[in-house]
Amino acid sequence: MAHSHSAPFRIALSTGGGDAPGLNAVIRAAVLSALHRGWECYGIRDGFAGILSPKEYPQGGVIPLTRETVRGITSLGGTIIGTTNRGHPMRYPTQRPDGTVYERDRTDELVNGLAAYGIDALISIGGDGSMEIAAALARKGVRVIGVPKTIDNDLDGTVSTFGFDTAVSFATECLDRVTATAQAHQRVLVVEVMGRYAGWIALHAGIAGSAHAILIPEIPYNLELVAEKIRQREEAGRYFSIVVVAEGARPKGGDFSVVAREPGRADRLGGVGEKVAHALEELTGRETRLVVLGHLLRGGSPTTFDRLLALRFGAAAVRAIAEGQSGIMVALDPPTVKYVPLEVATSRMKTVPLDSDTVLTARDMGICFGDE
Ligand code: F6P
Repeated sequence: MAHSHSAPFRIALSTGGGDAPGLNAVIRAAVLSALHRGWECYGIRDGFAGILSPKEYPQGGVIPLTRETVRGITSLGGTIIGTTNRGHPMRYPTQRPDGTVYERDRTDELVNGLAAYGIDALISIGGDGSMEIAAALARKGVRVIGVPKTIDNDLDGTVSTFGFDTAVSFATECLDRVTATAQAHQRVLVVEVMGRYAGWIALHAGIAGSAHAILIPEIPYNLELVAEKIRQREEAGRYFSIVVVAEGARPKGGDFSVVAREPGRADRLGGVGEKVAHALEELTGRETRLVVLGHLLRGGSPTTFDRLLALRFGAAAVRAIAEGQSGIMVALDPPTVKYVPLEVATSRMKTVPLDSDTVLTARDMGICFGDE
């Protein structure tokens, strides 16, 4: 893939971190917008692994993206170029001969790899990790635009990310479904949702889906108070209750439920729903069941909102390149898509503000957060 000065302008796309519904819509819009300008477009396989681990890709770690490749993908979950949350180039886990693992910085190899493929500009689509990598590449002179992605809605600098609406819509539908069966059997139903250290999915789905208690990382809980809420409902003749728990929820004075810790990766959370369900059954004496939605929230077809946002982000990223921008992330600031410095997305995690009207709405409606 040698690149001469007469060759067309060439861009590459990368999707990194956990997948979110809408990634393929970004890819489609970016590819069509690039082709429309007479540019060439490539996809790096599995984050940046296509460049950093070429041996693993006998059929090519960097693949051409054409009009044919992106046909019909707007509505598809996942990502056609693959993704990973392993192998962060700045903290690449590497094994020593004695089997121990250390982290090394492979950013320069990535810069050289991009140059070897003749890539003139990069669109890095992902969460805080991908924006951090993009910022490091920009500092080393790579022309790079970030596109924010996360179902968790925890990225700062953008009002919303695609994937979140799809996750919330599905979680809400699931709450409607479990409410029917909980009511029929007079049970407590605990529903655990994703959202690592931010409770956005639990909060929004919990309110929309008429949950009676919502436990989020931002508000450490006391289960005695949740049990009290369930008892009050029983005294009023309502013998079922729905409790939504974010995977990152934790008891007052207690810790997150971590199931796995690995170098170069974020902690894997899990198990809090189980603990909550067990404790509530003990405290209330009412039969309790648990549903863990987990990756169901990441799959599926993006909602119309997420499709449109993703398509707008993809096209905006290409426009930003055409305008000569670099080191920025496209961001939603209704009614427009604007550009913000990449660092804005990584400087702080966007958690649920405790005085937000959404939290107040829940409190006004009598939804229990386990804190009062
Ligand atoms: O950040 C997105 C997310 O879906 C989180 O909500 C969740 O904690 C995490 O990814 C799960 O990651 P994995 O699929 O690698 O277990």
